[in-house]
Amino acid sequence: MLDILRAEIDQCDSILAEALGRRFLAAARIATYKKECGMAVYQPEREAAVLNKLAANLKNQAYGAEIQELYQHIFQLSRRVQSRQVFSCNIVLIGFMGSGKTTLGRHLAKISGFTFYDVDRLIEQQTGQSIPNIFSMHGEKYFRAREREVIERLSTVEQAIISCGGGVVIDDANVTCLKQRGKLIWLKAEPATLLERLRHQHDRPLLKDKSLADIKSLLQKRLRLYAAAADYEITTDGKSVSAIGDDILGLPFV
Ligand code: S3P
Repeated sequence: MLDILRAEIDQCDSILAEALGRRFLAAARIATYKKECGMAVYQPEREAAVLNKLAANLKNQAYGAEIQELYQHIFQLSRRVQSRQVFSCNIVLIGFMGSGKTTLGRHLAKISGFTFYDVDRLIEQQTGQSIPNIFSMHGEKYFRAREREVIERLSTVEQAIISCGGGVVIDDANVTCLKQRGKLIWLKAEPATLLERLRHQHDRPLLKDKSLADIKSLLQKRLRLYAAAADYEITTDGKSVSAIGDDILGLPFV
């Protein structure tokens, strides 16, 4: 009995593998078309239409919920297949604290299917401490050394969206490392916008008072570093996350 059921599963697997291969190939061919027409990889309406059609076909299916869940992964992988073809490099987000790197990084990972890496979160995982604790217990120099290690570790990742801490550009070695496989995008924002976004946050040891004057003075010191490191600049003031994401994916990556 077990052998018969396993043979049934083996047969399903070979049908699935063949069908999925065809599906990803079709997705890759669509990517060529999207690239030529300047169309975005992520088309939420199309994904919704596919799910609706599927739901109708799955009406009498005992495992409809599982199949629908599987489709979320298939969509994610199809977006990655297409993004890989549309832009061949990692996307690295740089910019001052509060410029939206983490929020945007997560959004870009969702719409591109690429893997998301947040440098500050990786430092916290590696040290087992929060960023404010690292600063208060060991100081900035120690933090920068951990940041350097994480960036070095990320030098080999591909198909990645990387959100960096605001001070990553202080060390030239970080910039060189990130540029090996990525394009650096500077998310720009006016000091007043940064203050507004940071107002209710308490995890920025370098901006304890969060005054406009503090932001302006630190930003002033770093502007030329961001400008020198950036491959592209995107202004974020007054724009929604999805509009900024579309601006980024519309950049001429090679
Ligand atoms: C820093 C920015 C922070 C974090 C640390 C130092 C900086 O990251 O890395 O507090 O030097 O600008 P965010 O830019 O994500 O806030």
